[in-house]
Amino acid sequence: MKLLIMGPPGAGKGTQAEKIIADYQIPHISTGDMFRQAFKEETSLGKKAKDYVDQGLLVPDEVTNGIVRERLLKDDCQNGFLLDGFPRTVAQAVTLDEILFDLNTRIDAVINIVVDPSILVGRLTGRRICKNCGATYHLTFNPPKTLGVCNECNGELYQRKDDNTETVENRLAVYNNQTKPLLDYYSAKGNLYSINGEQDIDEVFVEIKKILGGID
Ligand code: AP5
Ligand code: MG
Ligand code: ZN
Repeated sequence: MKLLIMGPPGAGKGTQAEKIIADYQIPHISTGDMFRQAFKEETSLGKKAKDYVDQGLLVPDEVTNGIVRERLLKDDCQNGFLLDGFPRTVAQAVTLDEILFDLNTRIDAVINIVVDPSILVGRLTGRRICKNCGATYHLTFNPPKTLGVCNECNGELYQRKDDNTETVENRLAVYNNQTKPLLDYYSAKGNLYSINGEQDIDEVFVEIKKILGGID
């Protein structure tokens, strides 16, 4: 199963991705996670990307396209993958098509999680993430059993630096201007599935499973 998951910041891409990869046993490729890992390790990629990510702007396409190409060529992607947060520009989508052409494969489904912009800021400012295993929580909508501690691994929870109101506003504007037009690109290809992301986390996942079950 080769999948894309799309939607604005805070739509629930990462939350649903965790569930999809557990069911389908495919690698989760999140460009945002790759950049954050690179900051932590202070690699040259991390240095190139940090200012953009901290301001809520897109990392330049040539940087992002390069890391995705390298990742998709790895052996563990040959039977499937879930791309989360890529592509985000039409130029990235064209590059992805070129990579898929070279690999003689195609995307089975593009899952688009639809959420009204008015609730996204609250989702993002209330998000907390485990430092150790990356599990995602929300102070109100999906709280950990013990405040500040991961249910899965007892790791410490932290808040992303770009999850403050001002940076979130930038990210939402970038989404509207640069990423939303991609929905037309995939709609024209006929494999775009839009789902209501304002339901409970488990209900959203049930809808995703129905869609994926239909194309298995
Ligand atoms: P990235 O990490 O991809 O961030 P994003 O797109 O802004 O999306 P988020 O991760 O913030 O949201 P999500 O949809 O995953 O929501 P989540 O499931 O966590 O990118 C970060 C940055 O990296 C970008 O700004 C850019 O600088 C750079 N970048 C990345 N990719 C790039 C690219 N291709 N090109 C250029 N630059 C790139 O959920 C959010 C919260 O809501 C959580 O607290 C969760 O518990 C809660 N929640 C989830 N679902 C529900 C629900 N159904 N009901 C209630 N609460 C819910
Ligand atoms: Mg995410
Ligand atoms: Zn954890």
